[in-house]
Amino acid sequence: MTGVSGLQLRNIRKAFKGLQVLDGVDLDVAPREFIAFLGPSGSGKSTLLRIIAGLETSDDGEVVLDERRIDTLPPGERGVAMVFQHYALYPHMSVRENMAFGLKNAKVPREQIDSLILDAARVLEIEPLLDRKPGQLSGGQRQRVAIGRAIVKRPKLFLLDEPLSNLDAALRLRTRVELAQLRQRVDAGVIMVTHDQAEAMTLADRIVVFNDRRIQQVAPPMEIYARPANRFVAQFVGSPSMTIIPAVLQDGGPNATVTLGDSVAVATEVPRDSLPAGESVELGLRPEGVRVCRDGEGTTGATIELVERLGERSLVYARLSDGSSVTAEDEGTTTVKFGDRVGLRIDGSAAHLFGPDGTGYHRPAAA
Ligand SMILES: Nc1ncnc2c1ncn2[C@@H]1O[C@H](COP(=O)(O)OP(=O)(O)OP(=O)(O)O)[C@@H](O)[C@H]1O
Ligand SMILES: [Mg+2]
Repeated sequence: MTGVSGLQLRNIRKAFKGLQVLDGVDLDVAPREFIAFLGPSGSGKSTLLRIIAGLETSDDGEVVLDERRIDTLPPGERGVAMVFQHYALYPHMSVRENMAFGLKNAKVPREQIDSLILDAARVLEIEPLLDRKPGQLSGGQRQRVAIGRAIVKRPKLFLLDEPLSNLDAALRLRTRVELAQLRQRVDAGVIMVTHDQAEAMTLADRIVVFNDRRIQQVAPPMEIYARPANRFVAQFVGSPSMTIIPAVLQDGGPNATVTLGDSVAVATEVPRDSLPAGESVELGLRPEGVRVCRDGEGTTGATIELVERLGERSLVYARLSDGSSVTAEDEGTTTVKFGDRVGLRIDGSAAHLFGPDGTGYHRPAAA
């Protein structure tokens, strides 16, 4: 590997006692890129982060950072710094001592430690807190100290494992903004594990979706949302989840038309020749692609099962006559309620199709 900086993961494999957790993971992260790891619990996100940090060994594969193979090096020599979900600050040490601890162990000279700490404290705006003990700090301040401990190491890559998950909602939002600002001020890449999709969508240049021992998709946030690689990504990203219902592909046309169980036809903008052979497909609809209609309009009839009011809009959970359930959108001021029969208008241009193996097919990306 020469001439390629940033991080490269090559064929990372890991099993715990015969249980395969990661099965051939490849990933390229550009220098200074912000990557978010998303995926269900147990999908190996923390394990991969720990393998990069050197806290866990992989069974196979290579980790290369700035043209140097690092998976053979001890953690302290890899040029990465990790912040854990349950960051433990030493309670008997001041903020300053907590931040200095790793540097002292690495035998960094005293004056240099002082200036590294001051720089980090300035970036994180915790200068007034340097002589306090962790017990005298708020949750958000403690969080910043934990990040400060990573910053003073001047890593090429930050590894953050759910860094905001034990903050309350308001503090979490503020810290998310701070993290975005901090990101502009440090010259390093970031990989952050999060369960919060909004966090991933807001902060990341690209999102990596994990499931079933593998990476399912790597793409910028809106591409993950608009062009999910497969059924899993389509349903995992986005809230509420994408509706996916069985459909039959019709003959003819440059774009695919499908019919649903109640014989309603949906004309999509998915090029027909991009689809695999066979007529059995699945139709994917996000709530914003299905509208509740008034006065007998709409392309299909449905019965309302639940109305969720979100303020500016409402989500309407409805059942079609063939039994499939669909999530639709309506005005915030909607008057529809449980049990009502309504018409739904399905926006074919927003529809996704999925093949028998789960692969996603979408309308062509805007040029
Ligand atoms: N040291 C270990 N020994 C045995 N099994 C482990 C060990 N560490 C992790 N595992 C298992 O590996 C799998 C992946 O765990 P990991 O912590 O990487 O998941 P995760 O994606 O970070 O999940 P979460 O979102 O819940 O944090 C899980 O099934 C877990 O039980
Ligand atoms: Mg984890």
